[in-house]
This record gives sequence, structure tokens and C-alpha cells, in this order.
Amino acid sequence: MPATDRISSTHQRWTLDDIPWHAIRRDKVAHQEELFYFVSTASFVEITTDLYTRNLIGYFAGDDEVTAWLEQHWLHEELQHGEALKRYVQTAWPEFDWETTYKGYLREYAACCKLDALEPTRSMEMAARCVVEMGTASFYTALSRLSPDPVLSVLTWHIREDEVHHYKYFYRYFRHYRKLESAGRTRTLRALWHRLRMIDGEDGLIACKHVYGALHPDAPFDIHVYRQVQKRCRRVAGRYFPHEMSIKMLLKPLDLNPRVEQVAAPILQGLARYMVA
Ligand SMILES: [Fe+2]
Ligand SMILES: [Fe+2]
Repeated sequence: MPATDRISSTHQRWTLDDIPWHAIRRDKVAHQEELFYFVSTASFVEITTDLYTRNLIGYFAGDDEVTAWLEQHWLHEELQHGEALKRYVQTAWPEFDWETTYKGYLREYAACCKLDALEPTRSMEMAARCVVEMGTASFYTALSRLSPDPVLSVLTWHIREDEVHHYKYFYRYFRHYRKLESAGRTRTLRALWHRLRMIDGEDGLIACKHVYGALHPDAPFDIHVYRQVQKRCRRVAGRYFPHEMSIKMLLKPLDLNPRVEQVAAPILQGLARYMVA
């Protein structure tokens, strides 16, 4: 990557020591089952980031700036998200056996997990990564807004800021590779759509299954139960979801002219409201 396109390296913006764990309001979250699902399943998925993304770094071999950023900043921050959420769960819901439940999740997920299916070109992979970071940035924004516990709000806002930051990096790298590969808008749209359809992936389903199993040891779990849990969670999160921000982040790689974007954005926002709320 040319020197002019380089981005100054990041420093760690926060650590687990910045979170006032002692101030967690257990009384406010103890009986919030949907909140428990959000935080516990997110902790499982984030803490397992290295398992399904190890091929991503290899895909960009030779681009030292990208691989250094992925290894030293991005991956480290994603794993920190997992550690922080785990600690929150263990403090706020101590009766939940995080370690044992996670072991069950990891066993099942590792057995069926395929490495992330990468896009055929580097520019399209960067576009797909923008969708993933848009998804997580939106999720943590909603979580931060809806949390009745200020400590969880602060923690998820830190994570949200990281995810927005990740988006900016991937977007910047996307622009670099798009130019290099002369990638057009149709291909970009296809990559965005492809990744968007994968956002509700297997990791979320398996995480939900194990958390549900810990809460209801004798109850069977199937896709219908999963949809019910999802529905309940969406009902809680829907009105806190940052629809406008999500659509802006989603459309950005398409470089639409402002007039087209003005027409497309409200339609997509309506669609997003319908899908999330
Ligand atoms: Fe994350
Ligand atoms: Fe991220």
C-alpha cells in the first residue's frame, strides 16, 4: 500500500481496567432474560473470533499494513470484546456457568465451523468486512441504549466505538483495493448483499442453543424455539436500533450519488425497521 494511503497505527483505546465492574447494577439486569441472551451469546461469538477468522489474515499476505493491523489491533480488540462481555456476564449473572456453557458451544461450533467463506477478490472481501462491522456497531449501539445498567452501557459503548473504528479501516482498505482491482458497483453490491444474508449466521444459532439449554435444561431446542427467542430479543431492541446509521454504513461502499442515496435510504430504513423491529 502506498505511503500516502497509510493510516497511523491505533493504540488501545480502553482496557478491562477502565470498566467499573464493582458498580454493576445486578438488581437492574438480573431478571432481564433478553438482555442476558444478548450479552452472553455476544461474549461466546466474540471470544471465538480467532477460530473462524484465521484465514482472513492469510488472504491478505503480502500486504504488510493490512496484516499487521488485523493481527495487532483488530483481532486483539475483538478478543477483548469477548473477555469484557464474559466478565460482565460472570459478574451480573453469577449463577450462570459461563465456562461450562461456553465449552459446549465451542465443541459444537468448532466441529461444524467452516472458515469464513472469503469473497473472490480482496476489494470485495473488504466490502464484506464493512457489512460485518456495520452489524456489530449497530448491535452494540442498540445494546448500549437499551441497557438499564450504566456499566453495561459504558462497556458496550466502548465496544461500539471499536466496531465503528474497524469499519473505517476496512472501508479505507476497500477503497484502496477497489481502485487497484477496478472493481465496479455491481460487484460491490453483490458482495454487500452476500454478506448481509450471512449476518444471522450459525454462530448466533449455536450460541443461543447453549445459553437456552443452560436456562432450560429439560426443554428441547429447535429452529422454532430459536425464532421465538430472536423475536423476543428483537422486540426489546427494535426501537433502540440505529437504523439510519446502519443504512449509511451499508451504502457507503457503493459511492452512490447523493440524489440516489436520498431516494434509497428511506426505503432501506423502512426495510431495516421491518426486519429488526
Ligand atoms: Fe467485536
Ligand atoms: Fe469489529
